[in-house]
Formats: sequence, structure tokens, C-alpha cells
Amino acid sequence: DLGDALRASSLRLARIGRVQSVIEESPGTRDILARYIAGDTTQSALGAARDLMETGRAVTVSYLGPDADSRASSDATVEEYRRLVAEAVSRGLVGDHCLELSVRPAAFGRLDQATGRSLALAQLQRVCRTAHNAGLDVTLDMEGFETVEPTLRLLEELRQDFPRVGVALQAALLRTEQDCRELAAEGVRVRLVKGAHKLDERGSFDAVEDVDRSYVRCLRILMEGVGYPMVATHDPRMTSIAAALARSCGKGPEDFEYQMYLGIRPLEQTAIADRGDRMRVYVAYGPAWYSYLVRRVAERPTNVTFFVRSLLSR
Ligand code: FDA
Repeated sequence: DLGDALRASSLRLARIGRVQSVIEESPGTRDILARYIAGDTTQSALGAARDLMETGRAVTVSYLGPDADSRASSDATVEEYRRLVAEAVSRGLVGDHCLELSVRPAAFGRLDQATGRSLALAQLQRVCRTAHNAGLDVTLDMEGFETVEPTLRLLEELRQDFPRVGVALQAALLRTEQDCRELAAEGVRVRLVKGAHKLDERGSFDAVEDVDRSYVRCLRILMEGVGYPMVATHDPRMTSIAAALARSCGKGPEDFEYQMYLGIRPLEQTAIADRGDRMRVYVAYGPAWYSYLVRRVAERPTNVTFFVRSLLSR
């Protein structure tokens, strides 16, 4: 009943809270996580972007600002993206799709309220306009289960004026195969990820192998469709399946791309770029980066193994 459900979710939240404080209090964690982040400022993010572009990699930049709890914080996020675009243009870092913006809809408005959703739409339209005028694409990040529906509605609205706006879809969710089917038919730029957020008992695959199988099914749908698949994974099995599917579906280097995080499997990143495929690196920066990453790590055990693995494999 409702009482049991509330108790279960508050226990889960308490557990996440404990994991979060253990991570925050562990010495050296901040230094370890810092290698995956481009720093706090616009300048540091664009410095990292320039270095990556010099080795043939494309970049998507994401500003990790706070969730929008007021009009003022939403405005501040819009202003940061405008500053970022203006600075990127003046440094000559745009052109030939080498730079893209990733945005977190929750940083522009509360997605659980109608007024927040309208604010997010208006603000994202401002960011998309700025990006469009500079020749940059925009992709919406996807967060927890409850944000999926509002994010897809935002995508639909934004695409009326800016048809190249893309979205991340999470293979961990049961609904994603159907979402891929719809968006592939509409020709959307879709970033396929396994999913970094808390699983939802109403709609997620639990076992890692089931998420992997879902990822492959979704990949096939996207590669067979008319859209632009963005294969965001560090999993070598998934990248080779993507390469084989692209070949069999007749998709060339202009028709899809690979994406990875800054600092993860850098040799594989340059190998993909060197063989002529488009390799885009996700560069996150901003004052709230540490609490954002700690929340992600605390929320899902696989996120912990993810960071440990990258330390061991360097
Ligand atoms: P997974 O963690 O399942 O690992 C599988 C295999 O990959 C490993 O066995 C190993 O061989 C290799 N591998 C993985 N990590 C490695 C490492 N660190 N070092 C070396 N080898 C490694 N999530 C989300 O919910 N919403 C979003 O909007 C986004 N956006 C996003 C953008 C981009 C560009 C990326 C790369 C990822 C995201 N994600 C995301 C995160 C995504 O959902 C997922 O949590 C991580 O990518 C981890 O899953 P993987 O598919 O990389 O492999």
C-alpha cells in the first residue's frame, strides 16, 4: 500500500544519503573525480575542448549548474551557455559540427510542475536560438525516470523550431525501445546510453545483461532508422556491434557518431577518430560538478565500478 511504498522509498533515499556522505568524506575522492571534469569555468571547459579537437575529436560541452529552483538560477544557466557559445565562436572552436552543447532540462525549470516546464521550454528555446545562430547543435541529457516524459515533450516542442535538437535515451528503461522506434522514424539525433540514474521498479531492467541486450536492440532500431545515432558508451562490445550495424545499414562516418566521457578510454577515443569515424567527447564543467558526480556515483552501484575500472585501466 501507499504506506509501504513511502517507507521503502525513504529507506532507499536514506541509503543513498549515507553512500553520498561516505564518498564525500573519503580522502582523495575529489582529486580522482576531477580528472573526468574540465574544471569550474567556461575557460577551462573550452581549453579542454580545444585540446581534444587538436587530436581530431569532436566535443559536447555540458554546464553542470544547479537545478533551477528559481527564475534567477534558470537565467544564470542560460547566461552561462550564451557566454560559452560567444567565447567558443571568438576562439574559432565552432564549425563542421566539432562543438555541440549538452543541456540538463532540470537546470532550466522544475520538470515536475507545469510552470517549471513552461519556463524550461522558454529558456531552452533561448539557448537553442543562440546555439543555432552560431551553427551549434544541442542535445538534451536524460536524468531520472520521472524526467523522461517531460524531457521528450520538451524535445518535441523545441524541434518545431530547431529540428536538429537531440536527446539522450537510456537502454536501462523498458520504454526506451519504443521511444527509439518513434524517434528513429522522425529522424532525430538520439544519444543512446545505458543509463546512469537510479533504477525505477516501474520501468527498468534490473540485470546488467538485460540492459546490454536492450542497448543492442535499441542500437539496431536507430541504425536502421533515418535519424542520427550517437553511440555513447565505453563498452568495447557495444562499440563493435555499433560499427557492424552501421556497415550493414549503410551508415557512413557522416551518418552517426561515437561518444565517450572526458578521460575515459582516451586511446580508444583517438583510435576511433584516426580511422575516420566521428568521435565526440563529453566535457562537463561548472561549480556544481562535484556534488553532481557524487550523487550519480551514490545512486547506482554500477557507477562506482565505472570510475574504479577507469582508474585501473589507464
Ligand atoms: P559499462 O559501465 O556498462 O561498462 C561495460 C564495459 O565497458 C566494461 O566491461 C569495460 O570493458 C568498458 N568500460 C566501461 N567503463 C570503462 C572505463 N571507465 N574505463 C575502461 N573501460 C571501461 N547517462 C544518462 O542516464 N543520461 C545521459 O544523458 C547520459 N549522457 C551520457 C553522455 C555520454 C557521452 C556518455 C559516454 C555517457 C552518458 N551517460 C548518460 C552515462 C551512461 O548512461 C553510462 O552510465 C556510462 O556510459 C557507463 O556505461 P558504459 O556503456 O560506458 O559501460
